[in-house]
Amino acid sequence: MADLSTTFAGIKSPNPFWLASAPPTNSAYQINKAFEQGWGGAVWKTIGAPVLNVSSRYGGYEYKGNKLVAINNVELISDRPLEVNLREIREVKKLWSGRAVIVSAMVESKPEAWHDVVMKIEDTGADGIELNYGCPHGMSERGMGAAVGQVPEYCTMITEWVTSVASIPVIVKLTPNVTDITKPALAAVQAKADALSLINTINSIIGVDLDNFQLKPNVGGKGSHGGYAGPAVKPVALHMLSAVAQEEAVQRVGLPISGMGGIQTWRDAAEFLLLGATSLQVCTAVMHYGFRIIEDLTEGLSNWLDEKGIKSVGEIIGASVPRVSDFGDFDLSYKVVARIDPETCTNCNLCYIACDEGAHQCIDLTVDGHKIDPASYAGSVKPIPVVREDDCVGCNLCSLVCPVDSCITMLEVDSGRDSITWKELTSQKPEVLNWDEMEKYRREVGIKIH
Ligand SMILES: Cc1cc2nc3c(=O)[nH]c(=O)nc-3n(C[C@H](O)[C@H](O)[C@H](O)COP(=O)(O)O)c2cc1C
Repeated sequence: MADLSTTFAGIKSPNPFWLASAPPTNSAYQINKAFEQGWGGAVWKTIGAPVLNVSSRYGGYEYKGNKLVAINNVELISDRPLEVNLREIREVKKLWSGRAVIVSAMVESKPEAWHDVVMKIEDTGADGIELNYGCPHGMSERGMGAAVGQVPEYCTMITEWVTSVASIPVIVKLTPNVTDITKPALAAVQAKADALSLINTINSIIGVDLDNFQLKPNVGGKGSHGGYAGPAVKPVALHMLSAVAQEEAVQRVGLPISGMGGIQTWRDAAEFLLLGATSLQVCTAVMHYGFRIIEDLTEGLSNWLDEKGIKSVGEIIGASVPRVSDFGDFDLSYKVVARIDPETCTNCNLCYIACDEGAHQCIDLTVDGHKIDPASYAGSVKPIPVVREDDCVGCNLCSLVCPVDSCITMLEVDSGRDSITWKELTSQKPEVLNWDEMEKYRREVGIKIH
Protein backbone atom coordinates (compact mmCIF):
# COMPACT_ATOMS: atom_id res chain seq x y z
CA MET A 1 0.00 0.00 0.00
CA ALA A 2 1.32 3.45 -0.93
CA ASP A 3 2.33 5.69 1.95
CA LEU A 4 -0.19 8.55 2.22
CA SER A 5 1.46 10.31 5.15
CA THR A 6 2.56 13.89 4.61
CA THR A 7 4.68 16.50 6.29
CA PHE A 8 3.52 20.01 5.57
CA ALA A 9 5.74 22.83 6.87
CA GLY A 10 6.84 20.36 9.54
CA ILE A 11 3.24 19.40 10.42
CA LYS A 12 2.69 15.65 10.14
CA SER A 13 -0.55 13.96 9.16
CA PRO A 14 -1.34 10.34 8.29
CA ASN A 15 -2.89 11.36 4.98
CA PRO A 16 -3.04 14.64 3.03
CA PHE A 17 -6.77 15.19 3.66
CA TRP A 18 -7.65 18.03 6.02
CA LEU A 19 -11.03 19.58 6.68
CA ALA A 20 -10.99 23.21 5.51
CA SER A 21 -11.83 25.99 7.92
CA ALA A 22 -15.62 26.13 7.60
CA PRO A 23 -18.81 24.85 9.26
CA PRO A 24 -17.54 21.21 9.51
CA THR A 25 -14.69 22.41 11.80
CA ASN A 26 -16.76 24.58 14.08
CA SER A 27 -16.46 22.45 17.23
CA ALA A 28 -14.58 19.70 19.06
CA TYR A 29 -17.60 17.44 18.59
CA GLN A 30 -17.27 17.65 14.81
CA ILE A 31 -13.49 17.37 14.61
CA ASN A 32 -13.36 14.41 17.01
CA LYS A 33 -15.96 12.68 14.85
CA ALA A 34 -14.01 13.47 11.66
CA PHE A 35 -10.72 12.21 13.14
CA GLU A 36 -12.43 9.00 14.24
CA GLN A 37 -13.40 8.46 10.60
CA GLY A 38 -9.83 9.01 9.38
CA TRP A 39 -9.30 12.66 8.43
CA GLY A 40 -5.62 13.54 8.56
CA GLY A 41 -6.11 17.07 9.84
CA ALA A 42 -8.49 19.94 10.35
CA VAL A 43 -8.30 23.70 10.09
CA TRP A 44 -10.54 25.09 12.81
CA LYS A 45 -13.35 27.41 11.69
CA THR A 46 -11.83 30.91 11.74
CA ILE A 47 -11.66 32.42 15.22
CA GLY A 48 -11.11 36.06 16.03
CA ALA A 49 -13.11 39.25 16.08
CA PRO A 50 -16.60 39.07 17.61
CA VAL A 51 -19.35 38.58 15.00
CA LEU A 52 -23.03 37.79 14.67
CA ASN A 53 -24.10 35.52 11.85
CA VAL A 54 -27.37 35.85 9.92
CA SER A 55 -30.09 33.51 8.76
CA SER A 56 -30.39 32.37 6.09
CA ARG A 57 -26.78 32.12 4.90
CA TYR A 58 -26.16 29.42 2.25
CA GLY A 59 -27.34 29.19 -1.36
CA GLY A 60 -26.99 26.12 -3.60
CA TYR A 61 -26.22 25.94 -7.29
CA GLU A 62 -28.19 23.03 -8.70
CA TYR A 63 -27.53 22.04 -12.30
CA LYS A 64 -29.81 19.62 -14.13
CA GLY A 65 -30.79 17.78 -10.96
CA ASN A 66 -27.30 17.72 -9.46
CA LYS A 67 -27.51 19.36 -6.06
CA LEU A 68 -24.71 21.56 -4.72
CA VAL A 69 -22.60 21.72 -7.85
CA ALA A 70 -21.51 24.76 -5.88
CA ILE A 71 -22.45 26.44 -2.63
CA ASN A 72 -22.46 30.13 -1.86
CA ASN A 73 -22.47 31.63 1.62
CA VAL A 74 -22.68 34.87 3.53
CA GLU A 75 -21.42 33.25 6.73
CA LEU A 76 -18.80 35.07 8.77
CA ILE A 77 -16.13 33.60 11.02
CA SER A 78 -16.97 31.57 14.16
CA ASP A 79 -19.59 33.23 16.33
CA ARG A 80 -18.83 31.02 19.33
CA PRO A 81 -17.04 32.69 22.25
CA LEU A 82 -13.26 32.76 21.69
CA GLU A 83 -12.56 31.05 25.01
CA VAL A 84 -14.85 28.13 24.12
CA ASN A 85 -13.08 27.61 20.80
CA LEU A 86 -9.64 27.79 22.44
CA ARG A 87 -10.60 25.31 25.15
CA GLU A 88 -11.98 22.84 22.60
CA ILE A 89 -8.92 23.19 20.32
CA ARG A 90 -6.71 22.28 23.31
CA GLU A 91 -8.89 19.24 24.09
CA VAL A 92 -8.85 18.01 20.48
CA LYS A 93 -5.09 18.38 20.12
CA LYS A 94 -4.53 16.50 23.36
CA LEU A 95 -6.70 13.61 22.14
CA TRP A 96 -5.25 13.48 18.61
CA SER A 97 -1.53 14.16 18.79
CA GLY A 98 -0.89 12.46 15.42
CA ARG A 99 -3.37 14.57 13.46
CA ALA A 100 -2.82 18.08 12.11
CA VAL A 101 -4.75 20.66 14.08
CA ILE A 102 -4.46 24.11 12.51
CA VAL A 103 -6.29 27.17 13.76
CA SER A 104 -7.60 29.74 11.30
CA ALA A 105 -7.61 33.30 12.61
CA MET A 106 -8.81 36.71 11.54
CA VAL A 107 -8.65 39.72 13.82
CA GLU A 108 -8.58 43.48 13.50
CA SER A 109 -5.70 44.81 11.41
CA LYS A 110 -3.65 45.91 14.44
CA PRO A 111 -0.33 44.32 15.50
CA GLU A 112 -1.44 43.90 19.13
CA ALA A 113 -4.63 42.09 18.10
CA TRP A 114 -2.63 39.63 15.96
CA HIS A 115 0.07 39.13 18.62
CA ASP A 116 -2.61 38.39 21.18
CA VAL A 117 -4.44 35.81 19.04
CA VAL A 118 -1.14 34.11 18.05
CA MET A 119 -0.23 33.67 21.73
CA LYS A 120 -3.68 32.31 22.55
CA ILE A 121 -3.53 29.82 19.66
CA GLU A 122 -0.02 28.64 20.54
CA ASP A 123 -1.16 28.10 24.10
CA THR A 124 -3.66 25.45 22.90
CA GLY A 125 -0.88 23.22 21.52
CA ALA A 126 -2.17 23.61 17.93
CA ASP A 127 0.24 22.65 15.14
CA GLY A 128 -0.12 25.76 13.03
CA ILE A 129 -1.96 29.01 12.34
CA GLU A 130 -3.78 29.79 9.10
CA LEU A 131 -4.29 33.50 8.40
CA ASN A 132 -7.66 34.02 6.79
CA TYR A 133 -7.16 36.80 4.24
CA GLY A 134 -9.96 35.53 2.10
CA CYS A 135 -13.45 36.00 3.51
CA PRO A 136 -15.11 37.96 0.66
CA HIS A 137 -18.09 39.27 2.61
CA GLY A 138 -18.88 40.85 5.96
CA MET A 139 -15.34 40.89 7.30
CA SER A 140 -13.81 42.74 4.34
CA GLU A 141 -16.07 45.73 5.02
CA ARG A 142 -14.39 45.89 8.45
CA GLY A 143 -10.87 45.91 6.95
CA MET A 144 -10.26 42.16 7.42
CA GLY A 145 -10.37 39.02 5.22
CA ALA A 146 -10.30 39.77 1.50
CA ALA A 147 -9.57 43.45 2.26
CA VAL A 148 -6.13 42.22 3.35
CA GLY A 149 -5.67 39.45 0.78
CA GLN A 150 -6.39 41.80 -2.11
CA VAL A 151 -3.63 44.26 -1.22
CA PRO A 152 -0.17 42.64 -1.29
CA GLU A 153 1.33 45.35 0.94
CA TYR A 154 -1.24 44.66 3.70
CA CYS A 155 -0.64 40.97 3.23
CA THR A 156 3.09 41.43 3.86
CA MET A 157 2.56 43.79 6.78
CA ILE A 158 0.09 41.60 8.69
CA THR A 159 1.93 38.37 7.93
CA GLU A 160 5.09 39.97 9.35
CA TRP A 161 3.19 40.88 12.55
CA VAL A 162 2.41 37.18 12.88
CA THR A 163 5.67 35.57 11.73
CA SER A 164 7.68 37.90 13.97
CA VAL A 165 6.08 36.39 17.09
CA ALA A 166 4.84 32.92 16.07
CA SER A 167 6.79 29.83 17.00
CA ILE A 168 4.48 27.43 15.11
CA PRO A 169 4.11 27.32 11.29
CA VAL A 170 2.17 30.20 9.72
CA ILE A 171 0.02 29.39 6.67
CA VAL A 172 -1.32 32.31 4.62
CA LYS A 173 -4.71 31.52 3.04
CA LEU A 174 -5.19 33.42 -0.20
CA THR A 175 -8.31 34.90 -1.74
CA PRO A 176 -9.09 34.11 -5.38
CA ASN A 177 -10.81 37.49 -5.73
CA VAL A 178 -7.79 39.13 -7.33
CA THR A 179 -6.51 39.50 -10.88
CA ASP A 180 -3.19 37.77 -10.20
CA ILE A 181 -2.95 35.44 -7.20
CA THR A 182 0.85 35.30 -7.40
CA LYS A 183 1.05 38.88 -6.07
CA PRO A 184 -0.38 38.17 -2.58
CA ALA A 185 1.45 34.81 -2.61
CA LEU A 186 4.79 36.57 -3.11
CA ALA A 187 3.84 39.12 -0.47
CA ALA A 188 3.42 36.21 1.98
CA VAL A 189 6.79 34.75 0.93
CA GLN A 190 8.40 38.13 1.57
CA ALA A 191 6.88 38.15 5.07
CA LYS A 192 8.44 34.73 5.76
CA ALA A 193 5.22 32.71 5.85
CA ASP A 194 5.90 28.99 6.30
CA ALA A 195 3.23 27.90 3.84
CA LEU A 196 0.33 29.00 1.65
CA SER A 197 -3.19 27.70 1.24
CA LEU A 198 -5.66 28.42 -1.54
CA ILE A 199 -8.35 29.06 -2.60
CA ASN A 200 -10.86 30.72 -0.32
CA THR A 201 -14.31 31.36 -1.79
CA ILE A 202 -15.06 33.33 -4.96
CA ASN A 203 -17.33 36.40 -5.01
CA SER A 204 -20.69 35.40 -6.40
CA ILE A 205 -24.45 35.83 -6.47
CA ILE A 206 -25.85 32.33 -6.76
CA GLY A 207 -29.25 33.23 -8.13
CA VAL A 208 -32.55 35.05 -7.95
CA ASP A 209 -35.89 33.51 -6.95
CA LEU A 210 -38.15 33.95 -10.00
CA ASP A 211 -41.33 33.90 -7.91
CA ASN A 212 -40.54 36.78 -5.59
CA PHE A 213 -37.39 38.34 -7.15
CA GLN A 214 -35.43 37.76 -3.90
CA LEU A 215 -31.74 37.07 -4.05
CA LYS A 216 -30.52 33.68 -2.84
CA PRO A 217 -29.76 33.31 0.02
CA ASN A 218 -32.40 35.73 1.26
CA VAL A 219 -31.83 37.57 4.53
CA GLY A 220 -35.17 39.22 5.31
CA GLY A 221 -35.67 40.54 1.79
CA LYS A 222 -32.04 41.40 1.12
CA GLY A 223 -29.15 39.51 -0.37
CA SER A 224 -25.54 40.19 -1.30
CA HIS A 225 -22.53 38.69 -2.94
CA GLY A 226 -21.18 35.71 -1.05
CA GLY A 227 -18.40 33.15 -1.22
CA TYR A 228 -18.65 30.47 -3.94
CA ALA A 229 -17.14 27.01 -3.42
CA GLY A 230 -17.65 23.35 -4.30
CA PRO A 231 -17.06 21.18 -7.41
CA ALA A 232 -17.75 24.04 -9.85
CA VAL A 233 -14.76 26.06 -8.63
CA LYS A 234 -12.15 23.31 -9.11
CA PRO A 235 -10.80 24.57 -12.46
CA VAL A 236 -10.25 28.06 -11.01
CA ALA A 237 -8.51 26.57 -7.98
CA LEU A 238 -6.28 24.32 -10.10
CA HIS A 239 -5.19 27.27 -12.23
CA MET A 240 -4.39 29.41 -9.19
CA LEU A 241 -2.56 26.55 -7.49
CA SER A 242 -0.39 25.92 -10.55
CA ALA A 243 0.34 29.64 -10.96
CA VAL A 244 1.60 29.87 -7.38
CA ALA A 245 3.43 26.51 -7.53
CA GLN A 246 5.30 27.69 -10.63
CA GLU A 247 6.59 30.86 -8.97
CA GLU A 248 10.36 30.81 -8.72
CA ALA A 249 10.33 32.45 -5.26
CA VAL A 250 7.88 29.83 -3.95
CA GLN A 251 9.99 26.99 -5.36
CA ARG A 252 13.28 28.51 -4.14
CA VAL A 253 12.18 28.51 -0.50
CA GLY A 254 10.27 25.23 -0.96
CA LEU A 255 7.07 26.73 0.41
CA PRO A 256 4.38 24.03 0.70
CA ILE A 257 0.87 24.78 -0.55
CA SER A 258 -2.36 23.42 0.88
CA GLY A 259 -4.77 23.13 -2.05
CA MET A 260 -8.54 23.39 -1.92
CA GLY A 261 -11.53 24.43 -3.98
CA GLY A 262 -13.86 21.76 -5.30
CA ILE A 263 -12.19 18.59 -4.03
CA GLN A 264 -14.83 15.87 -3.83
CA THR A 265 -13.23 12.67 -5.14
CA TRP A 266 -9.80 11.03 -4.99
CA ARG A 267 -9.34 12.02 -8.64
CA ASP A 268 -9.75 15.70 -7.74
CA ALA A 269 -7.26 15.14 -4.94
CA ALA A 270 -4.72 13.56 -7.30
CA GLU A 271 -4.99 16.52 -9.67
CA PHE A 272 -4.32 19.00 -6.84
CA LEU A 273 -1.28 16.97 -5.76
CA LEU A 274 0.06 16.81 -9.33
CA LEU A 275 -0.27 20.59 -9.63
CA GLY A 276 1.72 21.27 -6.48
CA ALA A 277 -0.42 20.80 -3.36
CA THR A 278 1.23 19.06 -0.39
CA SER A 279 -1.95 18.90 1.66
CA LEU A 280 -5.58 19.01 0.57
CA GLN A 281 -8.51 20.72 2.23
CA VAL A 282 -12.17 19.90 1.77
CA CYS A 283 -15.28 21.83 2.80
CA THR A 284 -18.30 21.68 0.47
CA ALA A 285 -18.08 17.94 -0.26
CA VAL A 286 -18.18 17.28 3.50
CA MET A 287 -21.08 19.72 3.97
CA HIS A 288 -22.88 17.71 1.27
CA TYR A 289 -22.00 14.10 2.08
CA GLY A 290 -20.46 14.10 5.57
CA PHE A 291 -17.12 12.99 7.01
CA ARG A 292 -17.50 9.46 5.64
CA ILE A 293 -16.15 10.52 2.21
CA ILE A 294 -12.67 10.23 3.73
CA GLU A 295 -12.83 6.46 3.14
CA ASP A 296 -13.27 6.85 -0.63
CA LEU A 297 -10.67 9.63 -0.74
CA THR A 298 -7.91 7.66 0.99
CA GLU A 299 -8.76 4.31 -0.59
CA GLY A 300 -9.04 5.76 -4.09
CA LEU A 301 -5.81 7.73 -3.85
CA SER A 302 -3.95 4.80 -2.37
CA ASN A 303 -5.20 2.37 -5.09
CA TRP A 304 -4.30 4.80 -7.86
CA LEU A 305 -0.76 5.23 -6.47
CA ASP A 306 -0.40 1.44 -6.20
CA GLU A 307 -1.57 0.97 -9.79
CA LYS A 308 1.01 3.47 -10.94
CA GLY A 309 3.73 1.76 -8.88
CA ILE A 310 4.24 4.93 -6.83
CA LYS A 311 5.33 4.26 -3.27
CA SER A 312 4.38 7.50 -1.55
CA VAL A 313 2.17 10.51 -2.10
CA GLY A 314 5.25 12.74 -1.84
CA GLU A 315 6.52 11.40 -5.18
CA ILE A 316 3.70 12.97 -7.18
CA ILE A 317 3.51 16.39 -5.54
CA GLY A 318 4.02 18.96 -8.30
CA ALA A 319 4.75 16.31 -10.98
CA SER A 320 2.59 18.15 -13.55
CA VAL A 321 3.80 21.66 -12.70
CA PRO A 322 6.61 21.70 -15.33
CA ARG A 323 3.95 20.98 -17.99
CA VAL A 324 2.09 24.22 -17.28
CA SER A 325 3.26 26.39 -20.18
CA ASP A 326 2.66 29.65 -21.98
CA PHE A 327 0.62 29.60 -25.17
CA GLY A 328 3.75 30.96 -26.87
CA ASP A 329 5.62 27.73 -26.08
CA PHE A 330 3.04 25.40 -27.66
CA ASP A 331 4.21 23.49 -30.75
CA LEU A 332 2.20 24.94 -33.66
CA SER A 333 2.88 21.82 -35.74
CA TYR A 334 1.23 19.42 -33.27
CA LYS A 335 -2.00 18.14 -34.78
CA VAL A 336 -4.85 15.94 -33.60
CA VAL A 337 -8.00 15.02 -35.52
CA ALA A 338 -11.29 13.54 -34.39
CA ARG A 339 -12.23 10.00 -35.33
CA ILE A 340 -15.76 8.66 -34.79
CA ASP A 341 -16.21 4.95 -34.10
CA PRO A 342 -19.21 3.92 -36.27
CA GLU A 343 -19.73 0.80 -34.11
CA THR A 344 -20.51 2.74 -30.94
CA CYS A 345 -22.00 5.87 -32.54
CA THR A 346 -25.72 6.20 -31.72
CA ASN A 347 -26.32 8.68 -34.58
CA CYS A 348 -27.48 11.33 -32.13
CA ASN A 349 -25.70 13.93 -34.29
CA LEU A 350 -24.73 16.11 -31.35
CA CYS A 351 -21.17 16.11 -32.72
CA TYR A 352 -22.39 17.24 -36.14
CA ILE A 353 -24.44 20.12 -34.70
CA ALA A 354 -21.63 21.19 -32.36
CA CYS A 355 -19.08 21.18 -35.18
CA ASP A 356 -21.36 22.75 -37.78
CA GLU A 357 -22.84 25.50 -35.63
CA GLY A 358 -20.44 25.87 -32.73
CA ALA A 359 -17.07 25.18 -34.25
CA HIS A 360 -15.38 24.62 -37.62
CA GLN A 361 -17.72 22.68 -40.00
CA CYS A 362 -15.53 19.56 -40.40
CA ILE A 363 -18.13 16.80 -39.90
CA ASP A 364 -20.41 15.57 -42.69
CA LEU A 365 -23.60 13.58 -42.26
CA THR A 366 -23.51 10.60 -44.61
CA VAL A 367 -25.79 7.84 -45.87
CA ASP A 368 -24.17 4.87 -47.66
CA GLY A 369 -20.90 6.83 -47.77
CA HIS A 370 -22.46 9.88 -49.43
CA LYS A 371 -22.77 13.30 -47.85
CA ILE A 372 -26.36 14.38 -47.36
CA ASP A 373 -27.90 17.78 -46.77
CA PRO A 374 -29.66 17.47 -43.40
CA ALA A 375 -32.05 20.31 -44.30
CA SER A 376 -33.56 18.36 -47.21
CA TYR A 377 -32.82 14.74 -46.24
CA ALA A 378 -36.05 12.74 -45.88
CA GLY A 379 -34.68 9.17 -45.98
CA SER A 380 -35.46 6.53 -43.37
CA VAL A 381 -31.82 5.54 -42.75
CA LYS A 382 -30.21 7.48 -39.90
CA PRO A 383 -27.24 9.50 -41.25
CA ILE A 384 -23.78 8.71 -39.89
CA PRO A 385 -21.39 11.52 -38.93
CA VAL A 386 -17.98 11.35 -40.57
CA VAL A 387 -15.05 13.68 -39.85
CA ARG A 388 -13.22 15.25 -42.82
CA GLU A 389 -9.84 14.73 -41.21
CA ASP A 390 -8.00 17.06 -43.58
CA ASP A 391 -10.20 19.92 -42.48
CA CYS A 392 -10.50 18.99 -38.79
CA VAL A 393 -8.72 21.60 -36.64
CA GLY A 394 -8.55 19.23 -33.66
CA CYS A 395 -10.51 21.51 -31.30
CA ASN A 396 -11.94 18.55 -29.27
CA LEU A 397 -15.52 19.91 -29.21
CA CYS A 398 -17.17 16.87 -30.87
CA SER A 399 -15.49 14.52 -28.38
CA LEU A 400 -16.59 16.76 -25.50
CA VAL A 401 -20.27 16.70 -26.46
CA CYS A 402 -20.44 13.03 -27.50
CA PRO A 403 -22.56 11.17 -24.92
CA VAL A 404 -20.89 7.79 -25.60
CA ASP A 405 -17.60 7.10 -23.82
CA SER A 406 -14.66 6.62 -26.22
CA CYS A 407 -16.86 6.88 -29.32
CA ILE A 408 -14.95 9.94 -30.54
CA THR A 409 -11.20 9.85 -30.00
CA MET A 410 -8.69 12.51 -30.83
CA LEU A 411 -5.77 11.00 -32.73
CA GLU A 412 -2.36 12.55 -33.16
CA VAL A 413 -1.46 12.81 -36.85
CA ASP A 414 1.59 14.04 -38.72
CA SER A 415 0.87 17.61 -39.80
CA GLY A 416 3.80 17.51 -42.21
CA ARG A 417 5.11 20.73 -40.70
CA ASP A 418 8.33 21.34 -38.82
CA SER A 419 8.01 21.83 -35.11
CA ILE A 420 7.87 25.52 -34.20
CA THR A 421 6.39 27.58 -31.37
CA TRP A 422 4.68 30.95 -31.68
CA LYS A 423 7.57 32.54 -29.78
CA GLU A 424 10.12 30.98 -32.17
CA LEU A 425 8.05 31.89 -35.20
CA THR A 426 7.65 35.53 -34.26
CA SER A 427 11.30 35.88 -33.28
CA GLN A 428 12.50 34.30 -36.56
CA LYS A 429 9.87 36.01 -38.71
CA PRO A 430 8.59 39.11 -36.93
CA GLU A 431 6.80 40.05 -40.17
CA VAL A 432 4.13 37.34 -39.54
CA LEU A 433 2.58 39.72 -37.04
CA ASN A 434 1.24 41.50 -40.13
CA TRP A 435 -1.94 39.92 -41.67
CA ASP A 436 -0.65 39.75 -45.30
CA GLU A 437 2.57 38.07 -44.22
CA MET A 438 0.61 35.69 -41.99
CA GLU A 439 -1.46 34.59 -45.01
CA LYS A 440 1.74 34.01 -46.98
CA TYR A 441 3.24 31.99 -44.15
CA ARG A 442 0.09 29.89 -43.84
CA ARG A 443 0.22 29.06 -47.56
CA GLU A 444 3.95 28.26 -47.35
CA VAL A 445 3.48 25.69 -44.59
CA GLY A 446 0.09 24.48 -45.81
CA ILE A 447 -2.14 25.58 -42.92
CA LYS A 448 -5.77 25.75 -43.99
CA ILE A 449 -7.95 28.70 -43.07
CA HIS A 450 -11.42 27.96 -41.79
C1 LIG B 1 -20.28 27.98 4.39
C2 LIG B 1 -18.80 28.23 4.30
C3 LIG B 1 -18.13 28.84 5.35
C4 LIG B 1 -16.77 29.07 5.27
N1 LIG B 1 -16.11 29.65 6.31
C5 LIG B 1 -14.77 29.86 6.23
C6 LIG B 1 -14.05 30.38 7.34
O1 LIG B 1 -14.59 30.65 8.41
N2 LIG B 1 -12.72 30.57 7.19
C7 LIG B 1 -12.05 30.28 6.03
O2 LIG B 1 -10.83 30.47 5.94
N3 LIG B 1 -12.72 29.75 4.98
C8 LIG B 1 -14.04 29.54 5.06
N4 LIG B 1 -14.69 28.96 4.00
C9 LIG B 1 -13.94 28.60 2.79
C10 LIG B 1 -13.43 27.14 2.82
O3 LIG B 1 -12.51 26.95 3.85
C11 LIG B 1 -12.75 26.79 1.47
O4 LIG B 1 -11.70 27.67 1.25
C12 LIG B 1 -13.72 26.87 0.29
O5 LIG B 1 -14.99 26.45 0.68
C13 LIG B 1 -13.23 26.03 -0.90
O6 LIG B 1 -13.24 24.66 -0.64
P1 LIG B 1 -14.44 23.67 -1.10
O7 LIG B 1 -14.65 23.88 -2.57
O8 LIG B 1 -13.97 22.30 -0.72
O9 LIG B 1 -15.65 24.08 -0.34
C14 LIG B 1 -16.06 28.70 4.09
C15 LIG B 1 -16.74 28.08 3.04
C16 LIG B 1 -18.10 27.83 3.13
C17 LIG B 1 -18.78 27.14 1.99
